[in-house]
Amino acid sequence: MGQFASVGKQIGFVPTMGFLHEGHISLVRESVKENEITAASIFVNPTQFAAHEDLSNYPRNEKRDLELLESVGCDVVFIPQPNEIYPPGFQTYVLAEEITKILEGEFRPSHFKGVTTVVTILLNLSRCSNSYFGRKDAQQAAVLTRMVKDLYIPCTVHVCPIVRDSDGLAMSSRNVYLSEDERGEALTLYKSLKLAEELVMKGEKETQRIRAAMTGLYEKLRDYELQYIAFTEAETFTQIDEIEGGIPFYILIACRIGKTRLIDNFLLTV
Ligand code: PAJ
Repeated sequence: MGQFASVGKQIGFVPTMGFLHEGHISLVRESVKENEITAASIFVNPTQFAAHEDLSNYPRNEKRDLELLESVGCDVVFIPQPNEIYPPGFQTYVLAEEITKILEGEFRPSHFKGVTTVVTILLNLSRCSNSYFGRKDAQQAAVLTRMVKDLYIPCTVHVCPIVRDSDGLAMSSRNVYLSEDERGEALTLYKSLKLAEELVMKGEKETQRIRAAMTGLYEKLRDYELQYIAFTEAETFTQIDEIEGGIPFYILIACRIGKTRLIDNFLLTV
């Protein structure tokens, strides 16, 4: 398997797992604006799913994905088979340390090892100068920014804003798993982030108090598991107890609604 885009031109690259929505497409638009050639990949990467996770039912619609990508000017689409990315004899993984052990890493222990490994392979194959990731997966973006820096991978990581449905729900390929009732309950993630933002804007600094107020909104839900509400410094993902002026921070949530695990976050500075 060779590189998948022509040499001599500046390439922007958007890795995805397909079943594309406006969140993915916003990354492609950004790349089309900033590069001579835009490439995207569609690969449901088996190494980032744990055995009990949704690899086998992960939603797919390749025909629609290709139409969407073409409609926004994506030039190249790479759709490898698992045995092309991981051929027999494959045995090299990329591992980021502390930043992958917390939050998502705590609930999905082998997840980031799969992400860092596949993204390294895809960046190498694409020979891209620019790569585009969404802030929806804020920890993933931070892990990959760190990895590209640590390994001197010759590519700039761009982290783009979260795209939401009109009522605030963060777009995700996994939202199709939600029943109508669950879709309503899933909005609690956004509502609790809005509440947190209001409290922060009113001057609340203690993250424990903000977390308590947010948690209250979940108590009326029927079948849910609030896995974490975390406050971290934006760049390093160090957890914070008290909000400090002038330093960007994330409020991050992971919550299972019914059988669907959802994540969301706000990036704030006061
Ligand atoms: P996937 O979940 O398909 O997401 C591909 C990219 O789209 C990621 O960078 C993700 O953060 C971004 N994205 C998803 N929903 C978004 C939204 N609502 N707004 C903005 N961006 C959004 O993330 C992955 O795939 C994989 O882990 C991958 C990086 C492709 C490696 O396998």
